[in-house]
Amino acid sequence: MSQPLKIIIDTDPGQDDAVAILLALASPEEIEVLGITAVAGNVPLELTQKNSRIVCELADKPDVDVFAGCASPLERKLVTAEHVHGKTGLDGPVLPDPKMPLRETHAVDFIIDTLRREPAGTVTLCPLGPLTNIATAFRKAPDIVGRIGEIVLMGGAYFQVGNITPAAEFNIYVDPQAADIVFQSGVSIVVMPLDVTHKALVTRPRVEAFRSLGNHVGTIVAEWTDFFERFDKEKYGSPGAPLHDPCVIAYLIEPALFRGRHVNVTVETGSELTMGMTVADWWGVTNRTPNATFMGDLDANGFFALLTKRLARL
Ligand code: BDR
Ligand code: CA
Repeated sequence: MSQPLKIIIDTDPGQDDAVAILLALASPEEIEVLGITAVAGNVPLELTQKNSRIVCELADKPDVDVFAGCASPLERKLVTAEHVHGKTGLDGPVLPDPKMPLRETHAVDFIIDTLRREPAGTVTLCPLGPLTNIATAFRKAPDIVGRIGEIVLMGGAYFQVGNITPAAEFNIYVDPQAADIVFQSGVSIVVMPLDVTHKALVTRPRVEAFRSLGNHVGTIVAEWTDFFERFDKEKYGSPGAPLHDPCVIAYLIEPALFRGRHVNVTVETGSELTMGMTVADWWGVTNRTPNATFMGDLDANGFFALLTKRLARL
């Protein structure tokens, strides 16, 4: 059997981030979580680092190392998303405060140290929030860029355009300068944009499948979904809310669930009107060099079957 893939989850929980973390922690055959690095995004850093620990304890994995990173974007003022995720970021069920400690090292230093320590090309970064920690690490230690195996991230959109503005997806919009650094870095990148995640809809039967697992995690995931779907269903008129961030982890486990194209993706950093837009050359109409595999489709039933089966283990 091959060795599990070593990953760092960079995250701003967020209920969907939380489900992504649970999926990774429930999949030790395929994934080894070297650490979780929190960033400001859905809610401020104080809450995202705390929520990361709450989720590790929910998965009964209090030994996972959790680090706090950047509290605000590189250049812009932090924009948060309490209107989707609630005041705590994990609104819905009431979960106990974490007992496991936050590591003292800054998340950016953890990312740098880990990439320098592990053999080159063996660590995958999984950003599920704004790219501030990753870009800060690249600026501080350019030598790590060539040591990254791959970046698999949730962010951006093309045919689905935007969710926080008419043109931009939340993670990229919050820190477009950081996203620009990452997309121009030359690292191999796989993107899970809204084009894919808007097909990962938690419909009623899928929520009930979580609830019927009969374990604590299944109940909590169903209650989180019940909370954030109120907002999304109204916004999109869809039968359920999109479960964005778990797409990243599902890709690591079962890449055949996803389909995409290797294209050029350029982040808008100049215009306020379209700030943070991910301009993907889907039709190959420019001569810009492809820099990312931009996903466009997923097998939604296969995705939820995998997720539900893995959550049952916790
Ligand atoms: C992304 O933004 C956040 O609200 C979610 O956690 C996800 O990472 C979707 O646009
Ligand atoms: Ca997120």
